[in-house]
Parts: sequence; C-alpha cells; structure tokens
Amino acid sequence: MAISGKLTFPGDKSISHRALMLAALADGQCQITNLSTGVDVDSTRKCLESCGIKIEEDGSTLLINGGPFQHPTMDLDCGNSGTTVRLLIGLLAGQGIKAKFVGDASLSKRPMKRIMDPLTQMGANIKSTKEHLPILLESVKLNGIQYSPSIASAQVKSAVLLAGLKADEPTTVIEPIKTRDHTEQMLLNMNADIRINGNEITISPFKSKLSPFNMFVPADPSTAAFFAAAPTLVKGSDLVLSDVSINPTRIGFFSVLKQMGGNIKIDNERTECGESRGDIHIKHSELRGITLDNEAIPGLIDELPILAILATQAEGITEVRGAEELRVKECDRLHAICSNLLSMGASITELDDGFIIQGPTKLKGGKINTFRDHRIAMAFTIAGLIAKGEIVLDNKNCVNISYPQFFEALESVMEKHD
Ligand code: S3P
Repeated sequence: MAISGKLTFPGDKSISHRALMLAALADGQCQITNLSTGVDVDSTRKCLESCGIKIEEDGSTLLINGGPFQHPTMDLDCGNSGTTVRLLIGLLAGQGIKAKFVGDASLSKRPMKRIMDPLTQMGANIKSTKEHLPILLESVKLNGIQYSPSIASAQVKSAVLLAGLKADEPTTVIEPIKTRDHTEQMLLNMNADIRINGNEITISPFKSKLSPFNMFVPADPSTAAFFAAAPTLVKGSDLVLSDVSINPTRIGFFSVLKQMGGNIKIDNERTECGESRGDIHIKHSELRGITLDNEAIPGLIDELPILAILATQAEGITEVRGAEELRVKECDRLHAICSNLLSMGASITELDDGFIIQGPTKLKGGKINTFRDHRIAMAFTIAGLIAKGEIVLDNKNCVNISYPQFFEALESVMEKHD
C-alpha cells in the first residue's frame, strides 16, 4: 500500500471563522469560497445568523452582507468550537450586543477567564459561573487597553482586537510568542487601522467602514498535516496537497517535518486577501527525532498529535516542551496522545507540558480512545496505516468538527496492491 495522487481540502478552519465574522463587519457584501465544511465553522455561521447577519449561498460561494447586528433572541450555541465563542464574545462586545453563549460538554469545560479578563478591563459586562460557559455578555461602551496576555493564544489576541475595533481609543495586544495572525492580516486587507510591530499589534477604532472582500479560503494546513504524515510514513508514497495555506504563522509543522528529514517541497506560492497558499509535495522518507520548546509551539499547536505519531517512527529522541496548552484543547491532548500511544506499544513519557518519545518503535493496533476529539481521531487513523493489526476508533464522527470528508479523502489516495 502506498499513498499517492493529488488532494485538496476545504478551507482552513481559523481563516473560515474569521472570514465569516469579518464579513459581518464589512460595509457591503463579501463573497467567500472554499469555506471549511466542518461543524465548528457552521456554529459560527449560525451564531452570526442569530445576530441578524444575512448569509446566502450561491453554488459553492457564500454571500455575506455586513451588519447591523441585532440582539439574538436565543442562546448562541458555539458547539465544540473555542474559536467561535472566544472571538464572537470579543466581536459582539464591541457591537454592544447582549447575548448568552453556550456550548457542548467539552467546550463548557474549557477556560474562558483568558478572554473575560481583558474584555472586562475594556468595559464589557461578562458573567459566568466559575469562568466557564454559559456566559452572559452585556456591553455598553468599550475603552481601549494595552494587554500582555500571559499565554500565547490567537483566540485571546483576536477577541481583544475585534472588541478594540469599537473601543473609544486604540487597543494594543503584546503577545509573549507570535501566534497565527489571520485576524490582523484580514483586517489589514479590509483597510482597518491596524499596526503590526513584531509581537505588538495596535488597532484603532475604525472611523470609516471596513471594506468588503472576495476570498478563496486556502486549504487547511492543520488537516494537510495528517495527509503529509501519511506519505511520509508509508514506503513508496508520493502525494501533492494543493492550495494549502502557507501563512508563515501556520507552517510550523511542515518546517519541523523537514528538519526531521521529511521529503517535502512547497511550489506555486501565491497570495490573496493577505493570505498565502501553495502546493505541498511529500514523499516517503526516514525521520530523525527533534527537540521543540515553547517558542515553536504556537506555530504547530494543533499538529502536535500527528507529530507525536511521526516521532514514534523517527530515529532517536523527540522531546516536546512548553505545550501545556494542549491540556485545555477539545480534550486533554497530552493525555490522549500518551495513553493511546502507550497502548499501541510506543515508548513515550508524559510530561506536565509535553512528552518524550524514543523511536523508532513498531506500533500495534487496538482500540483508540478519541475523547471525541477530531484531531486525536485523525492522528490515530494515520498511525493505523503503519500499525500491525487494525485500529478501532471509539468515535469516528468527531472528525466532522473540522473535516467530515476525512475518511473518504484518505481512502481516495490509498493505492492498494494485492
Ligand atoms: C485558533 C487558535 C488556537 C488553535 C485553535 C484555533 C484560532 O487556539 O489551537 O484550533 O483560530 O485562533 P489558542 O488560541 O487557544 O491557542
């Protein structure tokens, strides 16, 4: 069996959320194609519609008419999506909207203090029980702040910047480590008054309206990571992934894979609406271990589950540190990675903030506990390609969160030789 051919994916989840939210702020109609097909982005769409934003479909293109926003008459259900809830609270705080945010069991356990603190400092009135969902937002007039979050989080940065669009003076966010910058790049493209100086971003309240945009959302690099890992692991493979986002703040996984010895090449680079994309060509290769510290983590935070799978096949030690944020994702991903890899026979040690893997080891199949987390389900499906014995996921449907077509896409590039 080899993995070969050419594949493309629906649009990046992070860019899709922001494209919808920013289109809702535009002065006129925006057109978005190749939006993520995942349930998370659909949660953002439904929440915006509940706030009075008109969204229509024209074939595979979405037409979104910017504001005005209305107070929703029902709870805003953010489902499983941290990006939906954290960014929308910031955006709607700026619009003076009164709303109640709810989510599924996983989202209701995730920390919200990280956005409540800065938004409260800006003057938003946010109530919750123990800083978790459900959250009640009521907002009158916001003031600008200078904020230095202690954690590197694009969601926190974006929530503050979106609120800052409507504050009465400039708002500055100073990040400890640079995180994905889609919010900033897309706002720049809409002619917002935003200045980026390294890790310091300042947004000024917009006086004129934000310009509408037409955008093709580049394919999701976090989804592409699974399809880069598969050919790397399986002998004789050769796969092209087209139109993938190669935004510099998102390609940490591909750079690390290259440093580990991966055979990977990016061609055909181009930029649209501040977002660059290219075609990624991957062939099978042998790997060596690598050490990653906290500086590297934001650039590949969502790719660490699949990186751990690759590390089990790499020669030597892979050590990942500074990744404690993985404990508060859709599940405790450090525990999910380590417990499942141990049961497959890998040599892995769980740390408070990461893991150490000694490779290469042979993996064996068996039951995988996905913890209903899409990225755990996809990472261990890829591990199943090289395991002796079948992998059985306790939940396959969770892939719908980011990529409902995951299993069909994988099947389509598997060349079987009987
Ligand atoms: C995201 C930011 C990251 C990432 C998440 C999407 C975003 O979360 O893990 O999947 O779209 O801003 P944090 O901001 O919590 O690191």
